[in-house]
Amino acid sequence: MAERTFSIIKPDATQRNLTGKVNAVIEDAGLRIVAQRRIQMSRAQAEKFYEVHKERPFFGELVDFMISAPVVVQVLEGDNAVARYREVMGATNPANAAEGTIRKLYAVSVGENSVHGSDSQENAALEIAQFFKAEEIVG
Ligand code: CMP
Repeated sequence: MAERTFSIIKPDATQRNLTGKVNAVIEDAGLRIVAQRRIQMSRAQAEKFYEVHKERPFFGELVDFMISAPVVVQVLEGDNAVARYREVMGATNPANAAEGTIRKLYAVSVGENSVHGSDSQENAALEIAQFFKAEEIVG
C-alpha cells in the first residue's frame, strides 16, 4: 500500500556533499521523493522534533548536531514507505548496519548517522506536518 514517510538528510551528510548520493539510494530502493527542502534548523525546531528523546543523555548533543549545518527535509512515498525506508537507512548505529544501507555506506557514528526516518505511520504524519504544507507535497 502506498504511504508516506518523513526523512532528514543530517548535517554530517550535507557537509560531505552526500545529498545526491543519499537520494540515489532512496530512489534506487523504489521510494519517490515527493517533497524536499534544504533548511537550517533552529534550536527550537530541533528540540520540538526530538522532544521524545528529551530525557536521554544524548539529547543536548543531538540538538547541537542537528543545528550545526543545513539539513534536507523530505517526504518519501512508496509501498510500505515507513518500513521500507527504515530498511534502506539501516541500523541506527552504523556499526550494526547491513551492507548497502545508507548508514553502512555513509554514517560516521551513532550520533552522526546521516539520515532520520519516521518510526511509525502516526509519527510520519506528525513529522511531515512539522515541515511541509499539504500543497508542497506533490506525488
Ligand atoms: P534518529 O533516527 O534521528 O532519532 C534519534 C537520534 O538520536 C538517532 O537517530 C541518533 O542519531 C541519535 N542517537 C541515538 N543514540 C545516540 C547516542 N548514544 N549518542 C548520540 N546520539 C544518539
